Amino acid sequence: MKSMRLGVSSAFAMALAFSGCRPASLNEQQMEGRTLYEGRCAHCHRDNDLALKKVPPDLHEIFRHTALPSGAPANDAEVQKVILYGKGMMPAFAGRFTQEQMSALLAYLHTGLR
Ligand code: HEC
Repeated sequence: MKSMRLGVSSAFAMALAFSGCRPASLNEQQMEGRTLYEGRCAHCHRDNDLALKKVPPDLHEIFRHTALPSGAPANDAEVQKVILYGKGMMPAFAGRFTQEQMSALLAYLHTGLR
């Protein structure tokens, strides 16, 4: 019995290893948000690939602080507003995400970007 349990858990560990760098702790919604973040946000917010003069702020842990880098309150409504309407050099994403995708993106941002 004991060895069987061991077998199952090592198969699980192998499955995780083969699924790439998927963090085991993210749920499905957060994973969807992560994909959106990686595809739509990270090139600026992590890589600043457009070499913007106003460097896009690091979004790790943004909800752990009371204020966003701009000083606006760090809550869902404010972050959703920034995403929909843009801010400074950040483009507006209105019409680019379904409500479900927006929720997933926020859920991922709430993880602190794991
Ligand atoms: C073209 C580059 C670019 C892309 C793409 C981009 N951003 Fe930004 N973002 C910026 C810049 C530049 C700022 C700083 C804006 C300012 O304060 O002038 C910013 C600011 C922010 C802020 C902080 C706002 C505040 O009030 O301090 C949040 C949150 C944010 N972005 C989220 C996102 C999310 C989520 C995505 C993906 C859907 C995204 N951004 C995509 C460039 C970008």
